[in-house]
Amino acid sequence: MATVEMRNVLKSYGSLQVIHGISLDIDDGEFVAFVGPSGCGKSTLLRMIAGLEGISGGEIEIGETVVNDLAPKERDIAMVFQNYALYPHMTVARNMGFSLRLQGASKAEITEKVNHAASILGLGHLLDRYPRHLSGGQRQRVAMGRAIVRDPQVFLFDEPLSNLDAKLRVQMRSEIKSLHQRLKTTTVYVTHDQVEAMTLADKIVVLNGGRIEQAGPPLELYDNPRTLFVAGFIGSPSMNFIQGTVRAGDRVMLETDDGLLIPLPAKIASEAGRRVTFGFRPEHILVDQAGVEARVLVVEPTGSETQLNAIFGKNPITAVFRDRVNFRPDDIIRFLPDLARAHLFDSTSGVRIG
Ligand SMILES: Nc1ncnc2c1ncn2[C@@H]1O[C@H](COP(=O)(O)OP(=O)(O)O)[C@@H](O)[C@H]1O
Ligand SMILES: [Mg+2]
Repeated sequence: MATVEMRNVLKSYGSLQVIHGISLDIDDGEFVAFVGPSGCGKSTLLRMIAGLEGISGGEIEIGETVVNDLAPKERDIAMVFQNYALYPHMTVARNMGFSLRLQGASKAEITEKVNHAASILGLGHLLDRYPRHLSGGQRQRVAMGRAIVRDPQVFLFDEPLSNLDAKLRVQMRSEIKSLHQRLKTTTVYVTHDQVEAMTLADKIVVLNGGRIEQAGPPLELYDNPRTLFVAGFIGSPSMNFIQGTVRAGDRVMLETDDGLLIPLPAKIASEAGRRVTFGFRPEHILVDQAGVEARVLVVEPTGSETQLNAIFGKNPITAVFRDRVNFRPDDIIRFLPDLARAHLFDSTSGVRIG
């Protein structure tokens, strides 16, 4: 196990700069997820840690050794890719033991380590099969087994579950988590799926345009997003946003761009006149006779909860209720955001207010 440190890391492809000075400390044994939209630089950053991409500026340390000029095989890392990258002409056992064979390990050692990894991953009965005779989930497990047998200082995962169907993805996600709880190997995990990042990681790093938007424990990002970008990215269904201007009369209200009023937290009075984006999560909505009116568009019961899509003026609102609710399309509901858990952002900078 090892720490990973990045200091002002830069990456350019020719004149195109794609990573703009990233500094980050990853603790020994920590599980860190890089999350962000397609093209934000997640894979590039991971591949720079792996040594598969050169570093245009700054420093990367693994286990307190600067690795900028070390080849991938000298970095003591193991990477798992989205497409598994298994050798089709090798059995599962040979795929898993291949890197050890390259290192010149003895046959007995290879067998022992492959068997050990296979038992952790439940692959024992598949060791003689070829990849083409495995399901997607089994192939992904073999790819992980190949990483485990090397007992590296750091695991690097690049969207390892993206090719699996939804149900298997959830199952493998929980297997990866329990694997980390067991091996405690420092892990960097790239995903565009915020639910995957939330459920797996000790620390989430939200990337946007090659910069860190916010880094912290999952629930910290969920409860206290520092920017509109993070607020909108973390959480599913997404946070509701309403734009408007703060008005402080008898009560502090948001005057929406379409001229409606909705209550704001009283402590915002000092921001009167400011253009803001008011944010509240779908599960932080109260049905209240004193609330504002919205028209129900769609009701989606899942059994455990009910999701409601409604429209407040011109503002789409999503609400999630744990209790069974009896709303129908075109019903008028009255609702209030839970002000103690609502968020306010500057509309221009996108930065959280207060
Ligand atoms: N080999 C390359 N040459 C030029 N541009 C690249 C190369 N690899 C990635 N990029 C660009 O770098 C940016 C980040 O890409 P990437 O790290 O793959 O994003 P992500 O993994 O977050 O989807 C993108 O704009 C992408 O087009
Ligand atoms: Mg990628």
